[in-house]
Amino acid sequence: MSKKEEKVEETKKEASTKKTDTKAKTDSLDDLVEDAYQSVMEESVKETKGDKNADKEEKVEAKEKKTEKPKKLSKKEQKELDEATRQAKIKALEEAALSTRSDIDVLAQDDAMEIPISDLPGVGPATTLKLKDAGLTSIRGIALSSVKELVDNADLGDKTAAKLIKLCQEQVGLTFSTADTLYTERLALDRITTGSDNLDELFGDGIETESITELFGEFRTGKTQIAHQLCVTVQLPKERGGLGANAAYIDTEGTFRPERIVEMAERFGLDPKQVLQNITVGRAYTSDHQVNLAKEIATLARGKNIRLVVVDSLTSHFRAEYIGRGTLASRQQNLNQHIHFLLKLAEMHHVAVLVTNQVMSRPDFFFGDPTAPVGGNIVAHSCTTRVYLRKSKQTKRVARIVDSPNLPEVETVFEILSDGIHDG
Ligand SMILES: Nc1ncnc2c1ncn2[C@@H]1O[C@H](COP(=O)(O)OP(=O)(O)OP(=O)(O)O)[C@@H](O)[C@H]1O
Ligand SMILES: [Mg+2]
Repeated sequence: MSKKEEKVEETKKEASTKKTDTKAKTDSLDDLVEDAYQSVMEESVKETKGDKNADKEEKVEAKEKKTEKPKKLSKKEQKELDEATRQAKIKALEEAALSTRSDIDVLAQDDAMEIPISDLPGVGPATTLKLKDAGLTSIRGIALSSVKELVDNADLGDKTAAKLIKLCQEQVGLTFSTADTLYTERLALDRITTGSDNLDELFGDGIETESITELFGEFRTGKTQIAHQLCVTVQLPKERGGLGANAAYIDTEGTFRPERIVEMAERFGLDPKQVLQNITVGRAYTSDHQVNLAKEIATLARGKNIRLVVVDSLTSHFRAEYIGRGTLASRQQNLNQHIHFLLKLAEMHHVAVLVTNQVMSRPDFFFGDPTAPVGGNIVAHSCTTRVYLRKSKQTKRVARIVDSPNLPEVETVFEILSDGIHDG
């Protein structure tokens, strides 16, 4: 049995133990409700009686004892009793829910989330686990999902998925807002310095959180180097342009180099050992693996204070695995889903997502640049900011914004040195 399979088995076992516990709690909950019901019945009958004339009460009681028939309540009394019973049941249910909550939360590992999924009515431990496996660990994440995503990834039925999404959208208040609110929110967006003033200016004061930034260009143009440097600069305190936070790196090409991180950390006067510890690296061997790692990061982001997620490169596996025209549609579909998940991850956890992308040559192209980023329209339309990198003299490189909703199409020069990225 592989390590992963062992882990799955272990989780299943834990889940079933928790289920048994929860069942026991539910059984005792029934007793609790029954007790509460009995005591409320008695109290309520007493209270109702207290309002009446004592003699009459005694007479009625004596008569009751004689005939040993239960007292018939008036309509008003019955109504009061029903209401008291209802309240007692609600109270008992609430108490029981509170006592089982901690178990469900442990299962979901969503302790760091703002609103636990298990808070939602109708979402039990099994659904919570399914959602977690799909990388959905917060109500906001579900609110941003489509029905198809929940059906495909979390194995839910159409109706359940639609109901759950609607509920989550109501919970997080996903509705219209005025432009001034959006403006204030955008001004408050955190940004991460690249360590080069030129690049920072190009990106509009560093790379933006809650969106995807794509670096594309030929080999050796500095995509991986910039990605490494951002893993270091995100750890800088806010006053130095960082976020005092950590990074996650999905390495699809085996080009992550801790020694480069050490060199860059020293340049910024940070403790290299600590900086390395703050970067979670996952080597992705296939596109499916890459997709799963992204989901795993979604579950880790809050707990590990991850504010930068790098996917280097976004497209290489998809490009290598789906060969031939016949596979194009499914490649684009899977890539599309992956990018949308990354965007959701960015918004869900307020992280900056940085992806790299290669270019391919266009044999049918005669004028201008005969290269184009891989992934076509899918990548082009989904990445918020796209930056094209090209080689210049020796260590110098040119970066150009090619697609941004708010930045002008300008160019700047940077340089790759032994301690990282500098102004060119
Ligand atoms: N320690 C170092 N000192 C100086 N320059 C370095 C160092 N390590 C790498 N470089 C430079 O970085 C460049 C490679 O950049 P990078 O690895 O970011 O390329 P890339 O755009 O990711 O390419 P690919 O598409 O092949 O992944 C090379 O020109 C190399 O000379
Ligand atoms: Mg690279």
